[in-house]
Amino acid sequence: MRHVIDILDLSTKEIDELLCVAEDIIENPEKYREKCKYKKLATLFFEPSTRTRLSFEAAMMELGGNVIGFSDANSSSSAKGESVSDTIRVVGCYADIIAMRHPKEGAPYAASFKTEVPIINAGDGGHNHPTQTLADLLTIKREKGRVDNLTVGLCGDLKFGRTVHSLINAMSRYENIKFVLISPEELALPDYVKKDVIEKNNIPYVETRSLEEAMGDIDILYMTRVQKERFFNEADYIRLKDSYILTPDKLETAKADLVIMHPLPRVNEIDTKVDDDPRACYFKQVLNGKYMRMALILKLLEVEV
Ligand code: NCD
Repeated sequence: MRHVIDILDLSTKEIDELLCVAEDIIENPEKYREKCKYKKLATLFFEPSTRTRLSFEAAMMELGGNVIGFSDANSSSSAKGESVSDTIRVVGCYADIIAMRHPKEGAPYAASFKTEVPIINAGDGGHNHPTQTLADLLTIKREKGRVDNLTVGLCGDLKFGRTVHSLINAMSRYENIKFVLISPEELALPDYVKKDVIEKNNIPYVETRSLEEAMGDIDILYMTRVQKERFFNEADYIRLKDSYILTPDKLETAKADLVIMHPLPRVNEIDTKVDDDPRACYFKQVLNGKYMRMALILKLLEVEV
């Protein structure tokens, strides 16, 4: 029985296999329609979500399984004071697999000790978001034909942006990756990623405040939202929220085959005029997330594919 709390809980070989299964699901969806018949996925979302929760639920339904859960902690017994540990123990009695999102860093990890069913971290505070990374990797693979030999620009809230932390962890394991970290100083990548992952693996990187300066060098541009809910002080959020707004004119110096990504939701960091640019891939990312979550559910439930 396996949990996926951190993207590094999966080896690169396993990630490659998940990418292959997801591509096979895209090609041959009918093969998978009954793979999880009679199985139940519980989605426990103690924090808001649109894509992650609904894509998990759609993924399980497309595998022929069923879904239970809650989308708001206030509609669960957590509002009565039940601990996360007890909630997980209880849900483990009903479900075969659990996807859980929680505002506290480490909550899904702690929960994983309390149940006999696989737990998937669907986002824990400002820490990690491994299944978004699976969606990101499939997008990069399908757009670029590879996940190595790339210069990856990450822009916006690199401090609280959990999708960025997981993506850097995953991409650091591939050959010839370079990172361009674009953020205001206050939202810079934390040391537990910069020092312990990028520097430790001797991966070349630069830090800059300027998206314009970085634009011409990068193969992937990963935009992020300033994570309002993680700020202690509203004035800081207001000062930083408009740090980067990607508009068509800023793309003039970009590569013709740039891949523009964003985990979504966007607030205003990508102008909607960019949506018609063929390099905009953020809605493809959404769909890819469903296929990768299907592949992950199959793997963790040990279903033969
Ligand atoms: C992200 C998240 O929840 O971390 N959203 C998502 O799952 N696609 C990004 C964000 O909320 O900014």
